[in-house]
Amino acid sequence: MDCLEPDLFQYPDTQGVRSFREEIAKFLTDYARATKELRPEHITVMNGCCAVFATLSTVLCDPGDGYLIPAPHYGGINSKMWLYGGLQPVHVPLSSEVTNEESHPFQLTAEKLEAALQRAEKQGIRVRVLVLINPNNPLGDIYPAQLLKECLEFAHRFEPWRYLRGVQFSIMQCSDEEKPPLLSPVLCGCSEEVACRGLSLAFV
Ligand SMILES: Cc1ncc(COP(=O)(O)O)c(C=O)c1O
Repeated sequence: MDCLEPDLFQYPDTQGVRSFREEIAKFLTDYARATKELRPEHITVMNGCCAVFATLSTVLCDPGDGYLIPAPHYGGINSKMWLYGGLQPVHVPLSSEVTNEESHPFQLTAEKLEAALQRAEKQGIRVRVLVLINPNNPLGDIYPAQLLKECLEFAHRFEPWRYLRGVQFSIMQCSDEEKPPLLSPVLCGCSEEVACRGLSLAFV
């Protein structure tokens, strides 16, 4: 018992242990080049990415709203967004066939986001979130910084921070040139970032 610190017997800070959040804030500010210095208050730590997706789906949206997501995508997101937030996916279909405007299979473009958004709006679906998984799971593509900027600009056209928001993944696996500016909520998890699923740890 002598080696246990007294605060381990108390409930921890529900936003995450402060010293850990301080380190994450420093990391995101320096390594990921946040446009403004991040502080521990800006960071929330949770039990894995799925827990963050479930929480964000309830706080960013209303039941029945849609979220844009390039497909194919990791299937676990749908169940969390639906079960907790009552949200429906609005797929941005990516194809293995390369057309004249594309340079590689399953290429994502801002035009494809726009087309999917318009299709959803015609069906009366209010789209409020753009979910970008980077590197893409299951494709493994790392989106170039220019494309991420275009995607974020797309998201910002709609009443920034109210109507459509972006969630992006994984800055750690990008090279310096690939790193996008941190302009939207960012979700990072140990299962994707460092292939350490047992830690069940993610932060937003
Ligand atoms: C895109 C994506 N979201 C969520 C998860 C699940 O993350 P966690 O185990 O942290 O809940 C994974 C796991 O590979 C993933 O690839």
